Amino acid sequence: MAKMREAPQLLSEEQVQGIRSQFPILAQEINGKPLCYLDSAASAQKPRAVLDCLAGFYSHDYSNIHRGMHTLSMRATASYEAVRQKIANFIGASSETEIVFSSGTTGAINLVAQTWGRVNVHAGDEILVSELEHHSNIVPWQLLAEEKGAKIVVIPMDDEGDLDQSAYANLLGEKTKLVAVSQVSNALGSINPVKSMCALAHECGAVFLVDGAQSVPHMTIDVVDLDCDFFAFSGHKIYGPTGTGALFGKGELLANMPPWQGGGDMIDQVSFSGTTYNAAPMRFEAGTPNISAVIGMGAAIDWMLDIGLEAIAAHENVLLKLATELIEEIPRIRVIGTAKRKAGVLSFWSDDAHPQDLGTILDQYGVAIRAGHHCAQPVMEHFGVPATARASFAVYNTREDVEQFISALKKSLELFA
Ligand code: ALA
Repeated sequence: MAKMREAPQLLSEEQVQGIRSQFPILAQEINGKPLCYLDSAASAQKPRAVLDCLAGFYSHDYSNIHRGMHTLSMRATASYEAVRQKIANFIGASSETEIVFSSGTTGAINLVAQTWGRVNVHAGDEILVSELEHHSNIVPWQLLAEEKGAKIVVIPMDDEGDLDQSAYANLLGEKTKLVAVSQVSNALGSINPVKSMCALAHECGAVFLVDGAQSVPHMTIDVVDLDCDFFAFSGHKIYGPTGTGALFGKGELLANMPPWQGGGDMIDQVSFSGTTYNAAPMRFEAGTPNISAVIGMGAAIDWMLDIGLEAIAAHENVLLKLATELIEEIPRIRVIGTAKRKAGVLSFWSDDAHPQDLGTILDQYGVAIRAGHHCAQPVMEHFGVPATARASFAVYNTREDVEQFISALKKSLELFA
């Protein structure tokens, strides 16, 4: 008999307080109130382990990488390259050679569009993206489609924020070259069934890219199990430094992709009679990279793994559920995004106050949320709102944060009533 999968053990209140205490930034007051940081979908705060790693690297081991025979350069290179292997393990890739460092999800998606895309997408081809994508998983494809005479086809979502799977199946066809979908929507929190979507795309011979910017912080990723061709994510959303991220690409795809940016490290031999290029992944990493930040991202991954990805997700889900229940009791508030499966994000609209005004007033109560279109204007268009207010959760958030947020929201709304 198949063994029942056990629910992950919930983090105790003490454990969460212990985690929270590792974030010096969270110990402050904003406008005389304890900081209640609910904007981790925009960027997560950094634990002491990451801050110490950065300071330690700069204090003891800093040097450029891949270039020097001296001790510091060798230490820096070893630490930097160890993160490539760490990421491969973290997202289930079979080899570290399938991991390309990037400046973030946006950089990774643009890399695919400008290398794989330029070679493989032609006039008349179709690129499928979903209606709930972040602009960074729309605009790079629009730029490519414009250049190549290809067409962008949109996979629609329903009014809950779930992608319409039968529409998707009907849109796929022999013209489909690529499908690019986020695993978790940054504006709605919807978790998309990228594994089954990827299988369908493959039946049509299309390549599948997953935007993992908002999923990697909240779930275990296994790119081999997903069978996706590309997977992009950012370091700053997983408690690591900004300016970091990675692209996973299947080995055979990366091997056949031309370079994008030229410069040091991406070459084999340079001559005025002709230049040859390094093998992947180095072929896509021109110039001195963000060395210390990549090493900091490695520390962030270790830190997350130490807590346990399932424990992180379970804790955040409790907070999301609690916040959703409490916000639904407030009159004239509409939760935007009620998909069957959600992670990390609670977007809402109040009939009484513009999201940006709410964001400003909530700040007076020490509560940090994001207000705006969340770089997902087609989502706003779908729901007929110019913007939403968005609270997003991370492992350092507590039930007290949720209570502070809801109480501040009620007080703020009273001002507008
Ligand atoms: N993409 C980030 C967000 O959703 C910045 O806020």
